[in-house]
Amino acid sequence: ARLAILISGRGSNMQAFIEAVERGTLNADISLVASNNPDAAGLELAARAGIDTSVVNHRDYDSREAFDAALAARIERTGADLVILAGFMRILTSVFITAFSGRLLNIHPSLLPKYPGLNTHQRALDAGDTEAGVTVHFVTEELDGGPPILQARVPIEAGDTADSLARRVIVEEHKIYPLAARWFIQGRLRLTDQGALLDGEKI
Ligand code: GRF
Repeated sequence: ARLAILISGRGSNMQAFIEAVERGTLNADISLVASNNPDAAGLELAARAGIDTSVVNHRDYDSREAFDAALAARIERTGADLVILAGFMRILTSVFITAFSGRLLNIHPSLLPKYPGLNTHQRALDAGDTEAGVTVHFVTEELDGGPPILQARVPIEAGDTADSLARRVIVEEHKIYPLAARWFIQGRLRLTDQGALLDGEKI
């Protein structure tokens, strides 16, 4: 399978994919790492791993739709079967989402449907939650609202800050995101009108 990974920053989830491919636990070829942000640190990591990188800078486009069309065209040229949003910090429009419907995944650092949007860990702390976590989901037009595929939970401990919690959660992100992609590549995972199906069963 051919993967395109979209990043905006550090790229630690992208790096987890690179390592899963290198270890042989993910039977895929990362054909492109693209970023809207020319300064994304992850671009450097990808290039060092010998992966093609591309910057499609949203500032070069007049509208979200024009940016999305350019980004979609860049990805389509690689023949990607699966598109992975990994810390990609732009809201995508239907122009992009329909082009990759059913083969577009995102990871969101909360136990969705709790805390869509930003500052998830701080919000979990402020709410007095006793656990936090992360969700891999199919992307639909509802922001952070597409059908969930896989979640991981971590305890919230006394004295936690948003940073300490993020460090606990990211370890789990790096495990569950390549696993969800693996299911997809194995043909076990599908997006239907009923939601996400794994081996034909609703998740
Ligand atoms: C992760 O916490 C991910 O869940 C969120 O953005 C962060 C990206 O981190 N969507 P990285 O760039 O993968 O290190």
